[in-house]
Amino acid sequence: MSPFLITRTLPEDATGAALRADVLDGLTRTPKTLPPKWFYDALGSELFEEITALPEYYPTRAEREILAGRAPEIAAATGARTLVELGSGSSEKTGYLLDALPGLRTYVPVDVSGSALAQAGGALAAGRPSLHVHALIADFTGGLTLPATPGPRLVAFLGGTIGNLLPAERAAFLASVRSLLSPGDALLLGTDLVKDESVLVAAYDDAAGVTAAFNKNVLAVVNRELGADFDPDGFDHVARWDPGREWIEMRLRARSALTVKIPALGLAVEFAAGEEMRTEVSAKFREEGVRAELAAAGLGLTHWWTDAGGRFALSLSTVR
Ligand SMILES: C[S@@+](CC[C@H](N)C(=O)[O-])C[C@H]1O[C@@H](n2cnc3c(N)ncnc32)[C@H](O)[C@@H]1O
Repeated sequence: MSPFLITRTLPEDATGAALRADVLDGLTRTPKTLPPKWFYDALGSELFEEITALPEYYPTRAEREILAGRAPEIAAATGARTLVELGSGSSEKTGYLLDALPGLRTYVPVDVSGSALAQAGGALAAGRPSLHVHALIADFTGGLTLPATPGPRLVAFLGGTIGNLLPAERAAFLASVRSLLSPGDALLLGTDLVKDESVLVAAYDDAAGVTAAFNKNVLAVVNRELGADFDPDGFDHVARWDPGREWIEMRLRARSALTVKIPALGLAVEFAAGEEMRTEVSAKFREEGVRAELAAAGLGLTHWWTDAGGRFALSLSTVR
């Protein structure tokens, strides 16, 4: 078994403090919002894994197809000795990269979900005796500090997770990623692409109701962590395509007028019947938009690969 180290870069109470701040801010706004990172407690991480196997949820399969075909090219273009993966979750597709990079010494999965990191990191380390796995429990939007590891570094941000950031957040995030990179390093970015509305909506509103359960899980997190009394059955899951902004919005819609008490915040929140709270955006991209956003952060796109169906793209940007 190779070395497996897990480090919490968030201070012990940082998660609780950030959740309190986000819930206070988001539930006192009009319209109400909650940021998607709070979906991912242990149950939320498991539900996300279930989503990735659903017939309607094509992004994971499409991205896996690209990785399986292009990993040798990615390895040749980067020569990475350290792979940093942001929002790594189960690291399920990462094996294609780990196996293709001949000089790879260290894998640094970064996630807010300690349970996902413990499960994934342990499994990866067990199968690769010469690989150092240094997992970081950290918020990738919060000014990351990476361990000192050999370069060149490849930072991977897969799963289309970048689409969960709003445009201004994406710009700040890409600039912060760029600041972590040195000449010779690279960013591998997974972006879901604009396509037919019916395909997109089905991917976020599956027939088996797994995405609905994932969406409502954020209410269970707020109940458990802040003593709130959300009744998940009092809300309906909503997935809607916004053609102007080219993003899917997931929302929770109150079935009737209700008041939710959040004792940890001394807050009582009123929902009108039918009121919708946004819990996630998932932006969809076009090549020219991705290229422009990367360029604005000082990153030059060098490769653009899609799956055979043209549904999802992986891009590689290098730092000169
Ligand atoms: C959409 S899932 C993608 C998981 C995996 N990369 C994949 O491609 O299947 C998003 C992942 O990012 C993590 N995550 C979400 N927001 C985060 C944040 N602000 N900082 C660190 N991890 C975050 C979640 O815990 C989850 O594992």
